[in-house]
Amino acid sequence: MSTQQMRILLVGNGGREHTLAWKLSQSEKVECIHVVPGNGGTAGVPKCQNITSVKDNDFAALVEHAKAHHLNFLIPGPEAPLVAGITDYFDENAPSIMVFGPSKQAAQMEGSKTFSKDFMKQHRIPTASYENFTDYGAARNYQDVVSHRVVIKADGLAAGKGVIIPKDNREARHALQSIMREHEFGDAGNSVVIEEFLEGDEISILSFSDGKTILSLPPAQDHKRIGDGDTGPNTGGMGTYAPTPLVTKEQLEEIERMILKPTIEGMAAEGFPFRGCLFTGLMLTKTGPKVLEYNVRFGDPESQSCLPLLKSDLAELMQACCDGTLASKSIEIAPLSACTVVVAAGGYPGSYAKGTPMKVQAPREKDGMFVFHAGTTLGEDGQLKTNGGRVIAATATGETLREAVDKAYRGVEGIEFEGMQFRKDIAQRALR
Ligand code: AMP
Ligand code: GLY
Repeated sequence: MSTQQMRILLVGNGGREHTLAWKLSQSEKVECIHVVPGNGGTAGVPKCQNITSVKDNDFAALVEHAKAHHLNFLIPGPEAPLVAGITDYFDENAPSIMVFGPSKQAAQMEGSKTFSKDFMKQHRIPTASYENFTDYGAARNYQDVVSHRVVIKADGLAAGKGVIIPKDNREARHALQSIMREHEFGDAGNSVVIEEFLEGDEISILSFSDGKTILSLPPAQDHKRIGDGDTGPNTGGMGTYAPTPLVTKEQLEEIERMILKPTIEGMAAEGFPFRGCLFTGLMLTKTGPKVLEYNVRFGDPESQSCLPLLKSDLAELMQACCDGTLASKSIEIAPLSACTVVVAAGGYPGSYAKGTPMKVQAPREKDGMFVFHAGTTLGEDGQLKTNGGRVIAATATGETLREAVDKAYRGVEGIEFEGMQFRKDIAQRALR
């Protein structure tokens, strides 16, 4: 495989997948990339083609497509196929195709919050104190007696909506009622975690791993709320910047030693080694960094800021994760800052229109300015239209964070569609 050209099957249609396709296409090792289903951005990436004739959740059809087109490398972008076991399915049915992604069991680190909390407790990885519940009465009793402010999390995947941060006991009761009794998130709410509310700055770290070694990208900060000043409802993420100066070099070393390494070693020791990109969400609290969550895939929109800073060949790093040879690689990062501003459809994260015509001025990449598409489609007539809540993002790199931020907002000026909204304060916490 190491000398063979990579013919890639990339599953997903978000900004993360456009960024991955863009970065992978720059590698001499990469011959072609089939994106299922892709978006209006991946449609224009060199070596890339969108495949809409195959459903992204039909593993048998994906294997068939991969075999028919001699594809030899699978990258599942989002968590859903990983948690559903796409890696195990390919290992069994197409063993010659390498998969950059964890097994179904390892994907439980994202797929089940009770599983990941128990894992952290077992391996003494710093995280918020917690209890797991399957019984509504027991959960309510605990909630009534616990002395600290709590966060309530539905166990399973709930499209980013399963975490509730109640203001008071009344809201907490209401949350338990709707998750456990009214099954607001379906089976995802059969168990819940009730954990301690943590205060501090939140950061995200994306790390490559082959199950033994880890190599991390620069730490990023996401902006989850829809509104400026972190107001309004949660979203998938409205903007990122990296590296964030909110975490010091010493803190990063501590995170590596106390959290990232023990996570990878613990997973290997338990018989489910992690292969792929591990996303660790952390809160920098007064008593040290603590894990908020693991995701078993690249972040979105963290990837849009972190991957333009990566100087190393992404395809080679991914291959080394699959070969088990990551220890022989290093990760080269440009000494720059990056900022990404997500532009969303009016109404998002509530209901929003699709199919709105858009105009996008593609900036010059030589100037360190990029546009990464998420919810867009390119019609046969060449008309770009909106097709999702988070529609598109402007990213820029710069010598300083200030420069990256200013350039990213200049990039936003080249994006136009009715109802568009974006946050005006991305990275402000670091610039103040
Ligand atoms: P999660 O999906 O677990 O990352 O939770 C979504 C968001 O809820 C996180 O990005 C945090 O902003 C917030 N959150 C989760 N757990 C906690 C906690 N224990 N304390 C404070 N905020 C939290
Ligand atoms: N930006 C948060 C995530 O990818 O889950």
